[in-house]
Amino acid sequence: MNNWHRYADSNALDSALAAHIAERLRADIARAGRATLAVSGGRTPVGLFRQLARCELDWASVWVTLADERMVPADSSDSNARLVREHLLQDSAARARLVSLANEDGSVELAELERRLAALPSPFSATVLGMGEDGHTASWFPGASNLDQLLDPTGTVPVAVTAPVAAAHRRITLTLSRVLRSREIILHVTGQRKKAVLDEALQRDYPVAAIFRQHATPVTIWWAP
Ligand code: 6PG
Repeated sequence: MNNWHRYADSNALDSALAAHIAERLRADIARAGRATLAVSGGRTPVGLFRQLARCELDWASVWVTLADERMVPADSSDSNARLVREHLLQDSAARARLVSLANEDGSVELAELERRLAALPSPFSATVLGMGEDGHTASWFPGASNLDQLLDPTGTVPVAVTAPVAAAHRRITLTLSRVLRSREIILHVTGQRKKAVLDEALQRDYPVAAIFRQHATPVTIWWAP
């Protein structure tokens, strides 16, 4: 996997990655007048969100959606939409439009959600994924009963509900086939432990390996110790 971008620390990583994503968004706005950015939740992207929120671009032409969401109320501290509202949709980026995957009460209406996703500018300018130490990304968790459906690169289902075996909350997640309809898949991870997980992702057949097995969409890895 020779598409690594390595930085000395997470602050340098977040600054460089924010600039990279901002350039992707500017290019699609110049090309099509609008752009979509899909992001993940968790702790890793908070610094990235804060740096990206300060980037100057036509945020009013940007739709932000999530790679996955916990099925919890929108004001829950576990809500990825809340994380995005609090850290990304601020400063210059306050004018961007958030398309949540779950309703305010945490419920999901799949047909209506598919219609919302189908209305987004596509392909996404970028989809930013994190990774857990179990090798999950988005909400593609090892052992999930519908993992094969989530990871089918030729699947026609853009989004699905899934129940992690070991993680909290039922989830609503983009499927691999929807994530592949991005101009770039950005894997944003930090720390030696996650690097070790990535180094053995393919041989251990972790869910994250699915993004490396395909060659339709460029994948870049952005890492700091
Ligand atoms: C989520 C995320 C998930 C996350 C990883 C890494 O909803 O939790 O989308 O896929 O990216 O679990 O999380 P950390 O950045 O907190 O390690």
